[in-house]
Amino acid sequence: MNATSKIELSISNLADNYAFVRKLLGKKNIRISSVVKGNAYGHGIEIFVPMAESCGIDHFCVFSDDEAYRVYHAANNQPDILIMGDITPESMDWVLTHRIGFFCFDLKRLHDALDAAKATGVPARVHLEVETGLNRTGLTKNELKTALDTIKSNAKHLSLEGLCSHLAGAESIANYLRIKKQRAQFKRMDEFVTSEGFSNYQRHLACSAALVRYPDTRYDMVRVGIMQYGFWPSPEIFIEYCGGKTMQTSPLKRIISWKTRVMSVKNVKTGSYIGYGTSYIAHKDMKIAVLPVGYSHGFFRSLSNKGRVLVGGERLPVVGTVNMNATTVDASDLKSIAPDDEVVIIGHQGDLEITVASFGEFSNQLNYELLTRLPEHIPRYVV
Ligand SMILES: Cc1ncc(COP(=O)(O)O)c(C=O)c1O
Repeated sequence: MNATSKIELSISNLADNYAFVRKLLGKKNIRISSVVKGNAYGHGIEIFVPMAESCGIDHFCVFSDDEAYRVYHAANNQPDILIMGDITPESMDWVLTHRIGFFCFDLKRLHDALDAAKATGVPARVHLEVETGLNRTGLTKNELKTALDTIKSNAKHLSLEGLCSHLAGAESIANYLRIKKQRAQFKRMDEFVTSEGFSNYQRHLACSAALVRYPDTRYDMVRVGIMQYGFWPSPEIFIEYCGGKTMQTSPLKRIISWKTRVMSVKNVKTGSYIGYGTSYIAHKDMKIAVLPVGYSHGFFRSLSNKGRVLVGGERLPVVGTVNMNATTVDASDLKSIAPDDEVVIIGHQGDLEITVASFGEFSNQLNYELLTRLPEHIPRYVV
């Protein structure tokens, strides 16, 4: 059976995005970790991970152990996997025995890891996350000292593989001072770890915005999420990258497209309401195309009477409310339209494009939010 819509992922655009990130990083030996939490920002972990591997990526960051499990099974080349957030108590043994690294942001996590390492006989790959000012997760200076002492006295079971932190909104200049303090605090914490006799650990702080805006945050590894998928973390970061030059095209390329087909076409007389309720009245005799995609497929209800799709090389507006499984668009101006014609919800058709940003604006969502809400059940294909 075929689904009512499909998502296509461009491998060549993905390769170009990594090439761009590598160019930014320059010749220094800085590792790229591909952030694939949130189902690879909606792109689909199972399809995205092998694509990234084929572009040379060998490190993935996830939020939780279930995502680590999915990356582990999707990957072809035994990449490093790092859990930045949740590990359920039952999963700690699996995490250790599959050599998955993880953030230790409180002492409980470190003690749980120690218990599991003793029980399984496999050392835990610890990345100490330090508090620098995000005030979400992270060890304070005193806790860091305790953690380092615990690692020293349990060297057989706990291996310090990384020191990390996360910035509180590097994509917005409004946070400049807060980020400045965080960068300085991370440096101090790093010096402290070194002064305690540790040397062989990876330091990582930068997300996409930081790697562009604050080169001093790149350290040994950058955790790149949104940029690898072809989006700027914010318009501000793109403008900053352009550095005053006019740039017609962005060096980052969206890899995702979302397509469906026309399910049915019908004529509606002037003065008739279209779809449920009274939100749209035909102001002329109209031709309506019905699409087999609604809010249950991730085409948000907030796109009612607002969204646009591409059909027959034209931009057609949504008319009436988006239903659970169907959406109606005004095809009156199209010379010809028939069931099974291609409909582009996100992506190119001819010279026209519907960007994720424009889709997001109509539905009042951030790129990040919109992408991660694309349902997992839509089939994904590499193109
Ligand atoms: C801890 C951590 N590192 C890195 C990232 C990647 O951020 P971005 O998608 O802006 O590159 C995230 C995403 O929110 C994160 O939570």
